[in-house]
Parts: sequence; structure tokens; C-alpha cells
Amino acid sequence: MNRRDFVKGTVLSAAVARLAAQGSAPAKGKVPPGDRITVAVIGSGARAQQLLDAALTIPVVEITAVCDAYSGRAQRAQERTAGRAKIHKDYREILNDKSIDAVIIGTPDHWHKDMAIQSMEAGKDVYIEKPLTYAVDEGLEIIDAVKKTKRVLQVGSQGISSATQQKARELVKAGRLGRVTMIRASYNRNTAEGAWLYPIPPDASTQTVDWDAFLGPAPKRPFDLERFFRWRCYWDYSGGISTDLFVHLVTSIHFIMDAKMPKSVVATGELYRWKESREVPDTVNGIMVYPEGFTVNLSSTFNNQSSSDSGFEILGTEGSISFRGGQFVFRPENVHNDYSWVVDSWPKALAEAYYREPKVQSAEVPTTWKPRMNQQSEVWDEQGQDATIVHLDHFFDSVKSRQQPVEDALTGHRAAACAHMVNASLRQNKAVQWDFGKEKLIS
Ligand SMILES: NC(=O)c1ccc[n+]([C@@H]2O[C@H](COP(=O)([O-])OP(=O)(O)OC[C@H]3O[C@@H](n4cnc5c(N)ncnc54)[C@H](O)[C@@H]3O)[C@@H](O)[C@H]2O)c1
Repeated sequence: MNRRDFVKGTVLSAAVARLAAQGSAPAKGKVPPGDRITVAVIGSGARAQQLLDAALTIPVVEITAVCDAYSGRAQRAQERTAGRAKIHKDYREILNDKSIDAVIIGTPDHWHKDMAIQSMEAGKDVYIEKPLTYAVDEGLEIIDAVKKTKRVLQVGSQGISSATQQKARELVKAGRLGRVTMIRASYNRNTAEGAWLYPIPPDASTQTVDWDAFLGPAPKRPFDLERFFRWRCYWDYSGGISTDLFVHLVTSIHFIMDAKMPKSVVATGELYRWKESREVPDTVNGIMVYPEGFTVNLSSTFNNQSSSDSGFEILGTEGSISFRGGQFVFRPENVHNDYSWVVDSWPKALAEAYYREPKVQSAEVPTTWKPRMNQQSEVWDEQGQDATIVHLDHFFDSVKSRQQPVEDALTGHRAAACAHMVNASLRQNKAVQWDFGKEKLIS
């Protein structure tokens, strides 16, 4: 792109602006006890410790308890709170503690439904990591529990709280992209870490790892540290690329496009490399067709990252949005019709007459179509805090206001359901459909 051809913008969401102004807000110790929200972390693994760091920056939040099936992670979470949080061995002790207002659930996916429902039934508000569910119908049970218990439940796909995704949504709503019919989204990696071959802590053993607690509702199996620390590689605990990575992309696409669910999905999944370490595919391609009138092409490989590491492109008749990291570019469509290669095959006299008469040419072009040239691209950068902090801040706002959270159970259910549709299609080797009335996969 020519330097002169784009303009740069920055975006700051309302929540970021408020958080940025918190220099003047009461410091943690000064928040009146009635305004504090006491929070426990269930499953203080790699992601939950990032959430812990983020939550510790929000003055109203007080982390009072942590729980993890591997003692080292409970210890590290306690260290993050400067020793203030109490360690529990069993998450049910947290549910029984009436002094705890809310829980952050960061366990593997197969535990999400049970822990979310039990936490709400115990009177806790819930921030739960994506994907909301391990299996598609679990979402309906969670939605039901939210209604019955009147608790706040927010799912943790933080991207939608970023100012850039909010700006992108505004551009789409304002019609800047014209008619969007195609979206391409990808997550490509080529590292062991990217393929979830995480290091196993040297002190991990039957002494430090509670294997039965980890298994929970999953099928019984002998003690296995690879399954414990690399659970995303196994169907018993995860849906692989679809539930881990596509869910982020789909949540953002639904948010920006104001879309509900695809009516049909067709997908393929293959495992090409590192076969000894996993059951789930390392290469997944899915096509989702939306009744709103667009198609989403999802694609992910763990065997190459040269084309892009992750992101999505929303392609419209008037312009496109291309998201990479915290930045997006809006590119207007600079297009003009050129029939010359066809007309140049006509008899010379006819071709020359055709070029001399612009009215004849324009009669062949649909009336809504106009050439557009020399329009500038726009680059939008995020300014302010990490989307995770903003997303958590939105959750704690909802805990206080009792208003619907930014990513509620229905939103989380639908995003996870797209991933489950991809997996259902690649397993069954056929297209699968969604029942909009029942919010269920048509089997
Ligand atoms: N929003 C994001 O960007 C993002 C990023 C990474 C992970 N995640 C999500 O966070 C969740 C956790 O992923 P992770 O990478 O942190 O995994 P992880 O393995 O590092 O952490 C999971 C933790 O849960 C613990 N655990 C398992 N069963 C338990 C039980 N019964 N009681 C208490 N603790 C238990 C494990 O010991 C482990 O420490 C997943 O759902 C994942 O999809 C989200």
C-alpha cells in the first residue's frame, strides 16, 4: 500500500476510557466493603493466571480463593495474589463459601457445563472461558440455569470487547462495506507450542496432580500427564482446533456482523503430523453458510504459518476489513469495468465505435454499479488496555448492575455450536444443519 493512500485512526472504547481514567478512581484498599466483589478462580491454569493478572488491576475485585487440580498452579495463583487467596483442593468448597460472589472458571472444556451450572446454583456469578461448551446441547442447559438462578454468566472471548472490533461493527452497520457476502478466517501455526505440545512441569506426579478431579465427567482412564497438561489434543476433553481457535473467530464474526448462526456447515479435518501426540486434526477447513446472506470460510493448519498467523477478512461489495492482531485495515473497493480484452476481438470498426460511445458501454453495466477509484484505505489501531482487562471489566460491571453481559450464555452457546457443527461435519463426512427454533444441531 502506498503511504499516501491510507489514513490512520485509533479507537478507544468507553470501557477503556473509563479504565484509563482509573488513576482517579479509588485504589483497591479504599473501595468500600459493600462495593467489593469477592472472586474465586476454579482451574487456575495458564489462561486463568492471565485472567488473574487482569482481574487484579480492577479495583473492585478481590481474589479470595483459588483451586487447581495441579498443586503447582494453585500455588502460583496464590503467589499472584501476594498470598491473600486461600487454596482449596476441591472446587465444591468454593461453591459452599457464601462469602464468594463470583467465580472465574478456567478448567478444560469438558468441565465447563457442570462447573458453570453448579456455580450458578450455588449463587455465584460466572466468568467462564470459551468455548462455553464441550458438547452442543450443553449450551441449552447452561442458558436454562442462567434463567432459573438469575445469575450473570459471561463467556471469555475477549476480542469482542476490543475497541477495534467495536469500530469494525460500526463500519459494517454504517454500510461502508456494502453488501458482505464472503468472510475468510484463519488460525495458522507451525510450532510445538502452537500445536499444544506444552511443557510438563518437572514436579508433576500423582502427588501433585489430582487425576480424578481432572477427569471429572470424562471417561475413566489411567493416570496420564500428557492428557492432563495437553488436553486439547484429545477428544475426551476438547474439540481441537474448532473449539479452541475457531470459536474466537466465530464470536468476533457474529459480533461484527450481528449474525446468529449458520444454517449449514460442511467441513474436513485431517491429522498429518505429530500423530503420536494427539487424536484431533491439525488441519481443519470449514464452510459456514449464514441466512443473513454471507458465507464464512474457516481454515486452520498447524503445519505452516507463512500466509498469516491468525485473523479474518470481511469482504463486501464496497470495501473490506482485514483483521490481524489488534489492528484492522479498511480497504475501499477501487474498481472499474474493463471490457477491452473482449471488445478487442470484435471487427475493428465495431470496437472503435463502441469505445467512442460511452452510453452504449454503460447500458451493459447493472444500474447499481459505479466505478470507484482512488479511495483511501484506513488503518485502525487499538489504543488503551488489553481486551482481556476490558472484557473482565464488562463482566464485573454486569455483576454490579445485574444487566446482561456483553457475551452472554446464548452468544457463547452459538459460537461453540459452530465449532461443534464443524466437528460433526468432519466426523460424519457430510454437511450439517442448524435448527433455529430449537437452537440445536439437526441430527
Ligand atoms: N480467551 C482466551 O484467549 C483463552 C486462551 C487460552 C485458553 N482459553 C480457555 O481457557 C480454558 C483453560 O485453558 P488453559 O490453556 O488455561 O488450560 P490449562 O491446562 O493450562 O488450565 C486448566 C487448569 O484446570 C485445572 N483443572 C482441571 N480440572 C480441574 C478441577 N476439577 N478442579 C480444579 N482445577 C481443575 C488444571 O489442573 C489446569 O491447571 C480452556 O477452556 C481454553 O479454551 C482461553
